[in-house]
Amino acid sequence: MYKSYPKTQFIGQKIIYLPTCHSTNDLAAESLRAEAPEGTLYVTDEQTAGRGQRGNTWKANAGENLTFSFIVYPIFLKATEQFRLSIAISLGIHDFLTELLYDHVFLKWPNDVYYKDQKLVGVLIENALMGSMLTGSVVGIGINVNQLLFPIDTATSIRQITGKEYSLEALLMQLCKCLEKRYLQLKNGGYSLQKMDYLKRLYRFEEWHRFQDASGKIFNGQITGVAEFGQLEIETETGIRYFDIKEISFVR
Ligand code: BTN
Repeated sequence: MYKSYPKTQFIGQKIIYLPTCHSTNDLAAESLRAEAPEGTLYVTDEQTAGRGQRGNTWKANAGENLTFSFIVYPIFLKATEQFRLSIAISLGIHDFLTELLYDHVFLKWPNDVYYKDQKLVGVLIENALMGSMLTGSVVGIGINVNQLLFPIDTATSIRQITGKEYSLEALLMQLCKCLEKRYLQLKNGGYSLQKMDYLKRLYRFEEWHRFQDASGKIFNGQITGVAEFGQLEIETETGIRYFDIKEISFVR
Protein backbone atom coordinates (compact mmCIF):
# COMPACT_ATOMS: atom_id res chain seq x y z
CA MET A 1 0.00 0.00 0.00
CA TYR A 2 1.27 3.50 -0.91
CA LYS A 3 4.16 2.53 -3.14
CA SER A 4 4.09 5.61 -5.35
CA TYR A 5 5.31 9.17 -4.84
CA PRO A 6 3.48 12.30 -5.89
CA LYS A 7 4.98 14.67 -8.44
CA THR A 8 5.74 17.31 -5.78
CA GLN A 9 8.76 18.98 -4.27
CA PHE A 10 7.98 18.03 -0.67
CA ILE A 11 4.35 17.22 0.26
CA GLY A 12 4.18 13.42 0.30
CA GLN A 13 7.84 12.83 -0.60
CA LYS A 14 8.04 10.88 2.66
CA ILE A 15 4.94 8.77 3.26
CA ILE A 16 4.44 6.65 6.37
CA TYR A 17 1.55 4.22 6.03
CA LEU A 18 0.00 2.50 9.02
CA PRO A 19 -2.92 0.08 8.60
CA THR A 20 -4.33 1.46 11.85
CA CYS A 21 -3.39 4.20 14.33
CA HIS A 22 -5.02 6.46 16.94
CA SER A 23 -4.86 9.73 14.97
CA THR A 24 -2.61 10.70 12.06
CA ASN A 25 -2.61 14.28 13.45
CA ASP A 26 -1.00 13.02 16.66
CA LEU A 27 1.64 11.09 14.70
CA ALA A 28 2.37 14.10 12.49
CA ALA A 29 2.60 16.35 15.58
CA GLU A 30 5.28 14.04 16.99
CA SER A 31 7.24 14.27 13.75
CA LEU A 32 6.88 18.07 13.82
CA ARG A 33 8.44 18.12 17.28
CA ALA A 34 11.25 15.92 15.94
CA GLU A 35 11.73 18.42 13.05
CA ALA A 36 11.02 15.82 10.35
CA PRO A 37 11.34 16.99 6.71
CA GLU A 38 8.62 19.36 5.49
CA GLY A 39 5.86 17.44 3.72
CA THR A 40 6.25 14.23 5.78
CA LEU A 41 2.86 12.53 5.53
CA TYR A 42 1.11 9.89 7.66
CA VAL A 43 -1.71 7.95 6.07
CA THR A 44 -3.84 5.22 7.59
CA ASP A 45 -6.73 2.94 6.77
CA GLU A 46 -8.28 3.34 10.18
CA GLN A 47 -8.07 5.76 13.11
CA THR A 48 -9.16 4.58 16.52
CA ALA A 49 -9.27 8.14 17.94
CA GLY A 50 -9.69 10.41 14.91
CA ARG A 51 -10.12 14.02 15.96
CA GLY A 52 -12.27 16.75 14.46
CA GLN A 53 -12.82 20.43 15.06
CA ARG A 54 -14.48 21.77 18.22
CA GLY A 55 -13.29 18.68 20.14
CA ASN A 56 -15.44 16.36 17.99
CA THR A 57 -14.39 12.86 16.93
CA TRP A 58 -13.86 11.93 13.28
CA LYS A 59 -15.23 8.54 12.27
CA ALA A 60 -14.80 6.87 8.88
CA ASN A 61 -15.18 3.26 7.72
CA ALA A 62 -11.83 1.44 7.70
CA GLY A 63 -10.09 1.21 4.32
CA GLU A 64 -12.78 3.12 2.42
CA ASN A 65 -11.60 6.72 2.82
CA LEU A 66 -8.56 8.98 2.70
CA THR A 67 -7.29 9.70 6.20
CA PHE A 68 -3.96 11.48 6.44
CA SER A 69 -1.91 14.29 7.93
CA PHE A 70 1.24 16.07 6.82
CA ILE A 71 3.55 18.70 8.25
CA VAL A 72 4.65 22.06 6.89
CA TYR A 73 6.79 24.87 8.27
CA PRO A 74 4.96 28.09 7.32
CA ILE A 75 7.54 30.33 9.01
CA PHE A 76 6.61 33.08 6.55
CA LEU A 77 3.28 33.55 8.42
CA LYS A 78 2.71 35.45 11.65
CA ALA A 79 0.62 33.78 14.35
CA THR A 80 -2.13 36.29 13.56
CA GLU A 81 -2.08 35.15 9.91
CA GLN A 82 -2.67 31.45 10.58
CA PHE A 83 -6.06 31.46 8.88
CA ARG A 84 -4.21 32.08 5.61
CA LEU A 85 -2.91 28.52 5.78
CA SER A 86 -6.48 27.25 6.23
CA ILE A 87 -7.50 29.13 3.11
CA ALA A 88 -4.62 27.72 1.05
CA ILE A 89 -5.33 24.14 2.18
CA SER A 90 -9.08 24.47 1.54
CA LEU A 91 -8.38 25.77 -1.95
CA GLY A 92 -5.98 22.90 -2.67
CA ILE A 93 -8.73 20.42 -1.73
CA HIS A 94 -11.28 22.37 -3.73
CA ASP A 95 -9.03 22.33 -6.83
CA PHE A 96 -8.59 18.57 -6.46
CA LEU A 97 -12.32 17.86 -6.00
CA THR A 98 -13.32 20.10 -8.87
CA GLU A 99 -11.16 17.97 -11.19
CA LEU A 100 -13.24 14.97 -10.13
CA LEU A 101 -16.70 16.44 -9.60
CA TYR A 102 -16.62 19.57 -11.83
CA ASP A 103 -19.24 21.57 -9.98
CA HIS A 104 -21.14 22.12 -6.70
CA VAL A 105 -18.03 21.90 -4.50
CA PHE A 106 -18.06 24.56 -1.75
CA LEU A 107 -15.80 25.59 1.09
CA LYS A 108 -17.74 25.70 4.30
CA TRP A 109 -16.14 28.11 6.73
CA PRO A 110 -13.70 27.62 8.27
CA ASN A 111 -12.34 24.75 6.20
CA ASP A 112 -14.77 21.91 5.59
CA VAL A 113 -15.56 20.99 2.02
CA TYR A 114 -19.12 20.39 0.94
CA TYR A 115 -20.76 18.92 -2.13
CA LYS A 116 -24.07 20.76 -2.44
CA ASP A 117 -25.38 20.61 1.15
CA GLN A 118 -23.40 17.59 2.34
CA LYS A 119 -20.00 17.27 3.92
CA LEU A 120 -17.33 15.52 1.87
CA VAL A 121 -14.12 16.58 3.64
CA GLY A 122 -13.07 17.51 7.17
CA VAL A 123 -9.85 19.39 7.88
CA LEU A 124 -8.08 19.83 11.20
CA ILE A 125 -5.05 22.13 11.17
CA GLU A 126 -3.00 22.37 14.35
CA ASN A 127 -0.34 25.05 14.58
CA ALA A 128 2.84 25.37 16.62
CA LEU A 129 3.70 28.96 17.56
CA MET A 130 6.79 30.62 18.92
CA GLY A 131 6.15 34.16 20.10
CA SER A 132 4.32 35.92 17.31
CA MET A 133 5.40 33.48 14.57
CA LEU A 134 4.07 30.23 13.20
CA THR A 135 6.81 27.61 13.35
CA GLY A 136 5.05 24.50 12.12
CA SER A 137 1.64 23.08 11.25
CA VAL A 138 -0.02 19.71 11.13
CA VAL A 139 -2.60 19.53 8.36
CA GLY A 140 -5.04 16.65 8.90
CA ILE A 141 -7.50 15.75 6.19
CA GLY A 142 -10.31 13.20 6.06
CA ILE A 143 -12.05 12.70 2.71
CA ASN A 144 -15.05 10.46 2.25
CA VAL A 145 -14.08 8.50 -0.84
CA ASN A 146 -15.59 5.02 -1.31
CA GLN A 147 -17.90 4.83 1.72
CA LEU A 148 -21.51 4.36 0.72
CA LEU A 149 -23.34 4.34 4.03
CA PHE A 150 -23.23 7.14 6.58
CA PRO A 151 -24.95 7.36 9.96
CA ILE A 152 -26.03 10.94 9.14
CA ASP A 153 -27.63 12.37 5.99
CA THR A 154 -25.42 15.46 6.08
CA ALA A 155 -22.38 13.47 4.85
CA THR A 156 -21.56 12.11 1.42
CA SER A 157 -18.62 10.56 -0.45
CA ILE A 158 -17.04 10.91 -3.87
CA ARG A 159 -18.35 7.45 -4.76
CA GLN A 160 -21.87 8.32 -3.69
CA ILE A 161 -21.74 11.31 -6.03
CA THR A 162 -20.14 9.74 -9.11
CA GLY A 163 -21.06 6.08 -8.67
CA LYS A 164 -17.42 5.10 -9.26
CA GLU A 165 -14.92 3.39 -6.97
CA TYR A 166 -11.49 5.02 -6.52
CA SER A 167 -7.91 4.03 -5.74
CA LEU A 168 -7.07 5.87 -2.52
CA GLU A 169 -3.40 5.89 -3.44
CA ALA A 170 -3.98 7.50 -6.85
CA LEU A 171 -6.22 10.16 -5.30
CA LEU A 172 -3.68 10.94 -2.60
CA MET A 173 -0.94 11.46 -5.20
CA GLN A 174 -3.10 13.93 -7.10
CA LEU A 175 -4.22 15.71 -3.93
CA CYS A 176 -0.62 16.21 -2.74
CA LYS A 177 0.06 18.07 -6.00
CA CYS A 178 -2.97 20.35 -5.58
CA LEU A 179 -2.14 21.06 -1.92
CA GLU A 180 1.47 21.90 -2.66
CA LYS A 181 0.54 24.20 -5.52
CA ARG A 182 -1.70 26.30 -3.25
CA TYR A 183 0.81 26.18 -0.37
CA LEU A 184 3.55 27.51 -2.65
CA GLN A 185 1.20 30.14 -4.05
CA LEU A 186 0.63 31.38 -0.49
CA LYS A 187 4.35 31.28 0.28
CA ASN A 188 5.04 33.32 -2.86
CA GLY A 189 2.74 36.19 -1.87
CA GLY A 190 -0.56 34.88 -3.25
CA TYR A 191 -2.69 35.61 -0.19
CA SER A 192 -4.88 38.37 -1.69
CA LEU A 193 -5.67 36.23 -4.70
CA GLN A 194 -6.41 33.22 -2.49
CA LYS A 195 -8.71 35.25 -0.27
CA MET A 196 -10.76 36.19 -3.34
CA ASP A 197 -10.78 32.58 -4.57
CA TYR A 198 -11.88 31.43 -1.11
CA LEU A 199 -14.83 33.83 -0.95
CA LYS A 200 -15.92 32.87 -4.47
CA ARG A 201 -16.17 29.26 -3.39
CA LEU A 202 -17.58 29.87 0.08
CA TYR A 203 -20.70 27.91 1.06
CA ARG A 204 -23.70 30.21 1.54
CA PHE A 205 -21.70 33.34 0.69
CA GLU A 206 -23.96 36.37 0.29
CA GLU A 207 -27.12 34.30 0.68
CA TRP A 208 -29.66 34.78 3.48
CA HIS A 209 -29.86 31.71 5.75
CA ARG A 210 -30.47 30.79 9.34
CA PHE A 211 -27.62 30.53 11.86
CA GLN A 212 -27.40 29.71 15.55
CA ASP A 213 -25.15 31.63 17.94
CA ALA A 214 -23.41 30.36 21.10
CA SER A 215 -26.41 31.27 23.27
CA GLY A 216 -28.62 29.01 21.11
CA LYS A 217 -30.41 31.92 19.46
CA ILE A 218 -31.42 31.36 15.83
CA PHE A 219 -31.13 34.37 13.55
CA ASN A 220 -31.18 35.29 9.87
CA GLY A 221 -28.02 36.47 8.21
CA GLN A 222 -25.82 36.44 5.19
CA ILE A 223 -22.09 35.76 5.15
CA THR A 224 -20.38 38.87 3.84
CA GLY A 225 -16.73 38.02 4.43
CA VAL A 226 -14.02 36.53 6.59
CA ALA A 227 -12.08 38.86 8.88
CA GLU A 228 -8.29 39.06 9.01
CA PHE A 229 -8.01 36.61 11.95
CA GLY A 230 -10.44 34.18 10.35
CA GLN A 231 -13.70 35.14 12.07
CA LEU A 232 -16.83 34.73 10.01
CA GLU A 233 -18.49 38.05 9.15
CA ILE A 234 -22.28 37.87 9.02
CA GLU A 235 -24.67 40.67 8.19
CA THR A 236 -27.77 40.29 10.34
CA GLU A 237 -31.00 42.22 10.54
CA THR A 238 -29.45 44.26 13.38
CA GLY A 239 -25.96 44.81 11.93
CA ILE A 240 -22.65 43.07 11.19
CA ARG A 241 -21.48 40.39 13.64
CA TYR A 242 -18.23 38.40 13.84
CA PHE A 243 -17.95 34.81 15.01
CA ASP A 244 -15.19 32.41 16.02
CA ILE A 245 -15.54 28.74 15.24
CA LYS A 246 -17.17 27.74 18.53
CA GLU A 247 -19.61 30.65 18.43
CA ILE A 248 -21.74 29.85 15.38
CA SER A 249 -23.41 26.98 13.60
CA PHE A 250 -25.20 26.77 10.30
CA VAL A 251 -28.89 25.85 10.42
CA ARG A 252 -30.19 23.74 7.53
C1 BTN B 1 -13.73 18.09 11.21
O1 BTN B 1 -14.50 18.01 10.26
O2 BTN B 1 -14.15 18.36 12.33
C2 BTN B 1 -12.27 17.85 10.97
C3 BTN B 1 -11.98 16.40 10.75
C4 BTN B 1 -10.53 16.11 10.47
C5 BTN B 1 -10.28 14.64 10.32
C6 BTN B 1 -8.88 14.32 9.91
S1 BTN B 1 -8.71 12.63 9.47
C7 BTN B 1 -6.98 12.76 9.46
C8 BTN B 1 -6.59 13.67 10.61
N1 BTN B 1 -6.42 12.93 11.84
C9 BTN B 1 -7.31 13.28 12.77
O3 BTN B 1 -7.38 12.80 13.92
N2 BTN B 1 -8.13 14.23 12.27
C10 BTN B 1 -7.77 14.59 10.93
